[in-house]
Amino acid sequence: MDKFVINGGKKLRGTIEVKGAKNAALKIFAASILTPETVKIKNVPEVEDITRISELLKDLGVEVIHPKKGEYQITAAKIKTSVINPYIAKKLRASIVLTSSVLARTGNVKFPHPGGCVIGERPINVFLDGYKALGAKINYRNNLYNISGKLRGAKFVFSNISVTGTEAMLMASSLAKGKTVLKNCACEPEIESLANFLNSCGAKIRGAGTPFVIIEGVESLKGAEYKTIPDRIEAGTFAILAAATKSNILIKNCEPEHLDSLWIVLKSAGVCLKISSDSVEIIPSRLKTVDVKTHEYPGFPTDLQAPVCVLLTQAEGQGLVHETIFESRLFWLDELKRMGADVLMHDPHRISIKGPTKLRAREIESPDLRAGMAYLIAALVAKGKSTLNNVYQIDRGYEKIEERLRKIGAEIKRI
Ligand code: EPZ
Repeated sequence: MDKFVINGGKKLRGTIEVKGAKNAALKIFAASILTPETVKIKNVPEVEDITRISELLKDLGVEVIHPKKGEYQITAAKIKTSVINPYIAKKLRASIVLTSSVLARTGNVKFPHPGGCVIGERPINVFLDGYKALGAKINYRNNLYNISGKLRGAKFVFSNISVTGTEAMLMASSLAKGKTVLKNCACEPEIESLANFLNSCGAKIRGAGTPFVIIEGVESLKGAEYKTIPDRIEAGTFAILAAATKSNILIKNCEPEHLDSLWIVLKSAGVCLKISSDSVEIIPSRLKTVDVKTHEYPGFPTDLQAPVCVLLTQAEGQGLVHETIFESRLFWLDELKRMGADVLMHDPHRISIKGPTKLRAREIESPDLRAGMAYLIAALVAKGKSTLNNVYQIDRGYEKIEERLRKIGAEIKRI
């Protein structure tokens, strides 16, 4: 397993470019098998999760060509099995969206219950209820769900707002017979982007990006080209990293509109920002604390909760962080405490952080993608040498992060 060795406590400076959004590209990979024609996907981040979904598609008999960096061509002329490889699926929670395209295309899908995860239980009831509403039959035998049936349009109200649940229902109902009405949908930009892609393949989806979505099912979809939208979580992570290390960084190739809730938090924390249509510059500022509550889009993203906690360790005063989306997404803070953070846990969803504190360099383990990245920010803040283990977690979502951070002056190497 690779590690990062970081010599922290230095100010960074320069320009960093944002890659395509992992959580958008993954869903386009899954959706590309709704058509037997070729789908070309551009601006794909070269990250581990993309390698995993490519492996899952190949395992289904789908052709996945990677002609050059950031570009993929997927052709699902035939799908040779409806079983989603349990071994790979367990490593990639996003594999759950593939259940919907396999079901819609072949009338059947078999898959294991996705593994739990350090950030929470992550049940799949929303998916099962949605497929049932579209007329599918569900069996669970030999540790595999077996879902089958010809899908028909229906009305479905999400009992819980779910990003991948909404995406799965967009895909499944695009090929269902008749009209589907979805209510209480998630509104993340990745969902609107998926709907735009599906519409370019011939789907008829209206309202994606709002809680109400209407889909008129079509007989078949054709191939199309898609350019992955910029990764808003990566852009937000860089902005927080810059503010926490008191660095002057220009973040390019991003979509600042997708991060309005973060800009509000950063401005309240005293961070000086220059926002343009596709870039954000962070100017070193004196930080004061702020309360942060995660929320479904357009609220503050849960995926930025861990980085923002590191920022609060460097801000004056006591701030409350309320994680409302996942039930176990604050436990990573135990390790940040060992780095010197003054953290008080009120309950599994709420903590207070008092700052500013001097963080101490040490050896740390990445528990998951976003907490791993938060530790990396903490290690850049802390003076001295930190070692970050289990870098695979960071590689799942951030392309060659050490090379990109080195270009703006970070002392970080992979060993
Ligand atoms: C997506 O996960 C993202 N993953 C996550 O990013 C992100 O943290 C999350 O949305 C929230 O924004 C991908 O897009 C691949 P949810 P998802 O279903 O769709 C509950 C990252 O680091 N729920 O919106 O799995 C669930 O337990 C990852 O890139 C049910 O109760 O999240 C949670 O409390 C981590 N039943 C809430 O809904 C269900 O059937 C929201 O989860 C499904 C979800």
